[in-house]
Amino acid sequence: MAQQPIVQLRNLTKVIRGKKLIDSLNLDLYPGQITGFLGPNGAGKTTTIRMMTGLMHPTEGEVLIEGQSLQGHYEEAISKVGVIVENPEMYKYMSGYKNLLHFARMHRQVSKERIDEVVRQVGLEKRIHEKVSTYSLGMRQRLGLAQALLHRPKFLILDEPTNGLDPAGIREFRTYLRKIAAEEGVSVFVSSHLLSEIELMCDRIAIIQNGQLIDIREMHNEAETVYYVEAEPLAKVQEVAQQLQIEYIVQAKGLELQIPKEQVPQLVNELVAQQVNIFAIQPQQKTLEEQFLEMTGGGQIAESHTK
Ligand SMILES: Nc1ncnc2c1ncn2[C@@H]1O[C@H](COP(=O)(O)OP(=O)(O)OP(=O)(O)O)[C@@H](O)[C@H]1O
Ligand SMILES: [Mg+2]
Repeated sequence: MAQQPIVQLRNLTKVIRGKKLIDSLNLDLYPGQITGFLGPNGAGKTTTIRMMTGLMHPTEGEVLIEGQSLQGHYEEAISKVGVIVENPEMYKYMSGYKNLLHFARMHRQVSKERIDEVVRQVGLEKRIHEKVSTYSLGMRQRLGLAQALLHRPKFLILDEPTNGLDPAGIREFRTYLRKIAAEEGVSVFVSSHLLSEIELMCDRIAIIQNGQLIDIREMHNEAETVYYVEAEPLAKVQEVAQQLQIEYIVQAKGLELQIPKEQVPQLVNELVAQQVNIFAIQPQQKTLEEQFLEMTGGGQIAESHTK
């Protein structure tokens, strides 16, 4: 990506009582992008996030926010960060709006217009003047999101934000996060131990295991898409694939072809020219789980492990 990263982890390391909990993490986070931080229980997500929010000092390495060290220039660097911790603290007997007003006073330059704007962004307009005690868990999470956004952070960190939400709540939260990343150009970093959730929410995924980053990958990587082609006669399709030097696997009624999207029209033209009857051409996205299993040779990401 050509843009400058907003956040950079450089050799971030944490040792506690001789144990290396976090081992030289290097990671760049970009504006408008949602990066998932995926790893099993105890992998080191929260420890990393604590260092990224200045709650814990790294043993080695540093966190840079727009090029400025969080450790060296704490005040200025942290003013660009929005954080949602588990169960954001809210005054339950006050309305959502009063809560936001209260938090707005902690920052300089948060206008009433800005409060209205974040309320709209998280879809709480209708209920914002009701007491927080009447809110569902999902609404409280969204209020937490609104609060974290008040001061227009360039970088938003969320540690397991969907814990306890039902599938509809997760979907809703995801929609608002995506909207915020797109509308405000915020770089979002969201941790989870749930593969399926991260897969749907993120543009990019960093996988951590035993304190080490074992992979960083882009989601929806069309370059490696596999297309399933259902057509007759299959022998002709195989001939065409060979001609075009496309790798394929034969299935019952069709072929799985490994081609970039740009090559699909050429393939279709050739099949039509060869008088092949085409019934379907479908992209087959590999799920993250399949990719992960491939990568680790059968290891499970979601299971807990002991060191
Ligand atoms: N203050 C501490 N002292 C000693 N060990 C710690 C401390 N904090 C965390 N750890 C250890 O560091 C490792 C990583 O913990 P961490 O909480 O960062 O994992 P996590 O990826 O957030 O897990 P989860 O998915 O369960 O939230 C664990 O083995 C944990 O026991
Ligand atoms: Mg954690």
